Amino acid sequence: MPPKLMIPGPVDVEAAVLDMLAEPVQAHYGDEWVAIHNETLELLRQVFVTEGRVYMLPGSGSLAADAVIHSMFKPGDRIALGINGFFGIRWREIIEANGMTPVVIETPLDQPLDPAAFDRLLAEDPSIAGVAAVQLETSTALLNPIRAIAQVTRKHDKLFVVDAVSGLAGAEYRMDEWGVDATVSGSQKGLGGVAGIGLAALNDRAWAAVEQAGPARSWYLDLRRWEWYVQNWADWHPFPITMPCSVILALRVALQSLLAEGLDNRLRRCETLAQRLRAGLVEIGMELFIPETLMSPVLTAAYCPPGAKSADVVRFVAEQHNIKITAGFGAVKDQVVRIGHMGAMISENDIDRLLDALRHFVDEYAAQAARPDEG
Ligand SMILES: Cc1ncc(COP(=O)(O)O)c(C=O)c1O
Repeated sequence: MPPKLMIPGPVDVEAAVLDMLAEPVQAHYGDEWVAIHNETLELLRQVFVTEGRVYMLPGSGSLAADAVIHSMFKPGDRIALGINGFFGIRWREIIEANGMTPVVIETPLDQPLDPAAFDRLLAEDPSIAGVAAVQLETSTALLNPIRAIAQVTRKHDKLFVVDAVSGLAGAEYRMDEWGVDATVSGSQKGLGGVAGIGLAALNDRAWAAVEQAGPARSWYLDLRRWEWYVQNWADWHPFPITMPCSVILALRVALQSLLAEGLDNRLRRCETLAQRLRAGLVEIGMELFIPETLMSPVLTAAYCPPGAKSADVVRFVAEQHNIKITAGFGAVKDQVVRIGHMGAMISENDIDRLLDALRHFVDEYAAQAARPDEG
């Protein structure tokens, strides 16, 4: 039996998604494929809740981030960036790698980004071209106030780019209604597909910036190139490269399933599971890393039982109970575990099995501690 995945992505996928990966290889061009490709984009628009352009970029979420930053901004541009964890830091690297300057607004790991700080910065520094922030900071399970930051950014008429790699379809997100200009995500988390596709969604404001951004410094990351194929090869090959058809077919099945359940229903299901897990953790004595009100519905970070190390908890749960969870990040790596409950494949039974496994760990750990001579 493969282990139950309760990590923050990739997620276990539904049987129909897995079956699709075993289907014969398809050609990535021609009428039949173009219809599948376009239908998948339409499903994605429903999940991003946008009427904008969506691109499936073979690669991962980070590639989509790289493509969006590369395409929307010019070298030398200053981009206000919220950082309160590892993935915020990754955006700093991506912005710098593209020759732009991140102007960092930082909050501690356990605190959400502050929309008022963005408001002040944008008021003081009109040279800033755009704002970037991570929705669900996967390193800590914290959900940032994207809607409020979007409001502030739009007030100052700047572009807003959001990393929704781990939060999409796991926490409320309404790109057009909230006024987010570009969103980046990936196929392997809340959407319920397998890894392999970076996703980029851009509204007309973002697209106008792409058109004005000057010469590209990359071939693959240049979204104007991707759009050229949409416009000029629409009838047989609306993308510049060979697409991973099997991965896209699997993603399409996952999206169909997600939308059949209904986005809101999926979110409610995630919330119910999260509450069940968190109540159980507290009962076991595993304190939540941040208050529940700050956590996303699809990821939980909790301190290990007192005295225990995350590596030991993770190993025990894997070896004794065949469930894969993961450690914390950075400064709290040894003290914190992270438990993913995203996608379609987490049930109440999985949550209860994990809680049993953690209870078992606590009992064994306490029993060992009571026998100091055995270490
Ligand atoms: C919030 C966030 N951003 C970006 C990434 C990077 O995505 P990928 O690993 O698909 O490149 C991740 C991956 O876990 C993530 O959680």
